[in-house]
Amino acid sequence: MLERTVPTETQAWKKLEQHAREMRSFSILESFKAQSNRFENMSIQHPKMLADFSKNKWTEETISLFKQLFEEVNLSKAIDAQFSGDIINETEKRAVLHTALRRPSTDEVKVDGMNVIPEIHKVLASMYAFANKVRGGQWKGYTGKSIQHVVNIGIGGSDLGPRMVYEALEPFSRPDLTFHFVSNVDGADISHVLREIDPSRTLFIIESKTFTTQETMTNAHTARTWFLTYAKDEAHIAKHFVAVSTNHEKVTEFGIDAQNMFGFWDWVGGRYSVWSAIGLPVCLAIGEEHFAAFLKGAHDMDEHFRTAPFEENIPQLMAAAGIWYRNFLGADSMAVLPYNQKLSRFAAYLQQADMESNGKSIDRNGKNVDYMTGPIVWGEPGTNGQHAFYQLIHQGTSLIPCDFIASVEPQHALSDHHRKLLSNFFAQTEALMAGKSEAVVRAELEKAGKSEDEINRLTPFKIFEGNKPTTSFLLKTLDPETMGALIAMYEQKIFAQGVVWNIFSFDQWGVELGKQLANVILPELESGNVGQHDESTVGLINYYLENRA
Ligand code: F6P
Repeated sequence: MLERTVPTETQAWKKLEQHAREMRSFSILESFKAQSNRFENMSIQHPKMLADFSKNKWTEETISLFKQLFEEVNLSKAIDAQFSGDIINETEKRAVLHTALRRPSTDEVKVDGMNVIPEIHKVLASMYAFANKVRGGQWKGYTGKSIQHVVNIGIGGSDLGPRMVYEALEPFSRPDLTFHFVSNVDGADISHVLREIDPSRTLFIIESKTFTTQETMTNAHTARTWFLTYAKDEAHIAKHFVAVSTNHEKVTEFGIDAQNMFGFWDWVGGRYSVWSAIGLPVCLAIGEEHFAAFLKGAHDMDEHFRTAPFEENIPQLMAAAGIWYRNFLGADSMAVLPYNQKLSRFAAYLQQADMESNGKSIDRNGKNVDYMTGPIVWGEPGTNGQHAFYQLIHQGTSLIPCDFIASVEPQHALSDHHRKLLSNFFAQTEALMAGKSEAVVRAELEKAGKSEDEINRLTPFKIFEGNKPTTSFLLKTLDPETMGALIAMYEQKIFAQGVVWNIFSFDQWGVELGKQLANVILPELESGNVGQHDESTVGLINYYLENRA
């Protein structure tokens, strides 16, 4: 069981409030000038990356107050509880053990007295055997041809993880296999994919922890019907449909052979499931060796999180920075800005990981919190974002702490592109911090030959206040092991923040209401008999009913 400490009642929280008042006029740039070793003290050399926390709006005192806060809420006990399989998802009475999925086969983690590691490695072995057959061309479709297209059907954690990791590691993937991801119940999503594939050479992976999710089941049935119009015989389904789920019964009911089902367990949360058989599309793409490296990278990051002292602990410092901005400096959101096109879905992935975990307002005592919890997470790859929303980060009225992510080595051979990309990465973190003073703006305008009047008129618009906080993660390269480490790093940040905020990070009751109401409305759309709703909802439904073809 997790402790129930209300963070605002801790000594450290009170001190942080006072400290935040004192920090109002703090300048990041000035503190670099005042302290020659700020970068050295506030950056961490990890085997896979450099994590630079020095461009944050904080001092060593801030960091030491967070150390105290984490001690007061007993983070280390919560970490032990997570890793040892305690029931920390209390509202669903479940352990939270995605970390077990990436542990070596020699480890031991018990759930209800049973070591789960052998079972995990058994499923991994069957995934690897299956992936080897498909990749090696031994797995044949109903006409005897090998597989060329893999279509993943899933949503939320059963889509975002495999899709994002597949895209990130696509350079490690087999070029003769193409991957497609269908998630939306909007028929446009699957229709587009069905146009591009050959049924005799396609493998559908139906991924759903529950195997009841409306979107996934609708898409899965559409795919099945489409496939049978070509294959004609249901006996061929076994060669073209596999499932990843915890629900054996529903999978068999759908018509998928139990032999073609890869299982996982209720102690794996959907948004933390890419490490389980939900990672099957990734495993098919990059193969056994790379998938094992992906798991290892995550496990190494878990060990770092569990054992590194606070001042050198990347996920814990990320958690501290996030709480600092959210609760003490008033930030509503945080931006994740990968300078890597292959990470274009990373922010979307983190939106589920973070916002579904920590978007909560009831604490572990069942009471309303009176402080902010999880931030809004958003972002797009740089440099695209620079030409879209960076204006607001530089000169808008909101404080938006940003995570910058790039890799030293590119995943392609265009080194000129990469240098330009990285020059933008470095420049943006510098510009956000340093800004541009009035004196510099005036000097530039003078140099450009502007008149005194014009200089006076334009100067206010061209000033950059600066002092905008950023954390930079400079990866050595984006390989499978680093990718595993990167995701685990954010997962553990989210965990640590949830512990401090005294909330349950591993349930998601907030997604239920909309699902329930959609189930009420669907039959009304089918029958045309509109039930009891508010005036606006009735008006919208009627507009649809009156105008549909
Ligand atoms: O959005 C709610 C949710 O339960 C997510 O947590 C989950 O990842 C997603 O739906 C998909 O669920 P399933 O894997 O059971 O289809």
